[in-house]
Amino acid sequence: MKVLGIETSCDETAASLVDGTGVLADVVHTQAIHQAFGGVVPEHAARAHAEKLQAVVRAALAEAGVEKPDAVVATAGPGLIGAVLVGFCYGKALAAGWGVPFLGVNHLEGHLLSCLLEDPAPTFPFLALVVSGGHTTLYRADALGDYSVLASTVDDAAGEAYDKVARMLGLGYPGGPIVDRLAAQGDPTAVPLPRPRATDLDWSFSGLKTAVRQHLIQNPDARPEDVCAGFQAAVVDVLLDRASRAAERTGIRQLAFAGGVAANAELRRRAAETGLEVFFPPRSRCTDNGSMIANAGRMHLLAGATHPLSMGVQPRWSLG
Ligand code: KG4
Ligand code: ZN
Repeated sequence: MKVLGIETSCDETAASLVDGTGVLADVVHTQAIHQAFGGVVPEHAARAHAEKLQAVVRAALAEAGVEKPDAVVATAGPGLIGAVLVGFCYGKALAAGWGVPFLGVNHLEGHLLSCLLEDPAPTFPFLALVVSGGHTTLYRADALGDYSVLASTVDDAAGEAYDKVARMLGLGYPGGPIVDRLAAQGDPTAVPLPRPRATDLDWSFSGLKTAVRQHLIQNPDARPEDVCAGFQAAVVDVLLDRASRAAERTGIRQLAFAGGVAANAELRRRAAETGLEVFFPPRSRCTDNGSMIANAGRMHLLAGATHPLSMGVQPRWSLG
């Protein structure tokens, strides 16, 4: 079953084709317009999706050599309502025109299951840490559609903290990849930062961000590389600390990572040292993409699910 997956929940306009052999085409257009604003502007995002989506879908179909897929799936939420609507309505229209099944996918479930596209892939039950610009949540995944939240952030998402620290240092948006790169040249011990904890499993990143701000006020000459390295060491420590605790408690040793922050070099390096069986999507499929949506949708379609074309978007759709 060849499935076209469409993703437009934030600032990536993405379309992919996936079948039983894996990813056939994966086209992602990242909107540049938000860089000037230092963050995603919802109205611009929706308009830019509307302008670009058709070309992105056409490119994906051409790359996969597919004229008509067997089903169309699209992100139904959570995300920016205008942005989600563009991809969701376009996906429904394509499905209606082609006369193929349609299914709306939860963006977070797309991330959560994204490691299943890889080889080796985790098998149920596994732990999944979805760590992105909008979410930092650790799930227990027992089966398709059977997820429970073990831990989550009580304030900022980890990616959001990366973006805010990058902004403090005047580094540009999105900040994660830039901080990641600079941190590799810095000394984390030069900028000792706290490891804030909300509870023994939940995260809090707001205090860490404030500690970075305080450090910059007190040490205006601090090397940006060292600040990035110190901040990143703290983020990676707390992410892996909670994940390891959850593994101890549940007895589940497989840990899958997903979301933009899962592209982080230090997180990938240190995760490999935890002694757990860790799984990462390739870097290009950590950030938002159509393959993860196509994959999650395809799994549900194979399990017998479809959605009526009367389905609406769910901008605040939680998982588990
Ligand atoms: O999954 P994603 O593309 O979108 C959301 O659903 O939020 O994640 C984007 C987030 C941004 O906050 C970005 O700064 C962060 O992921 N990010 C990174 C890296 N690459 C992207 N954070 C740390 N290190 C990276 N290499
Ligand atoms: Zn995402």
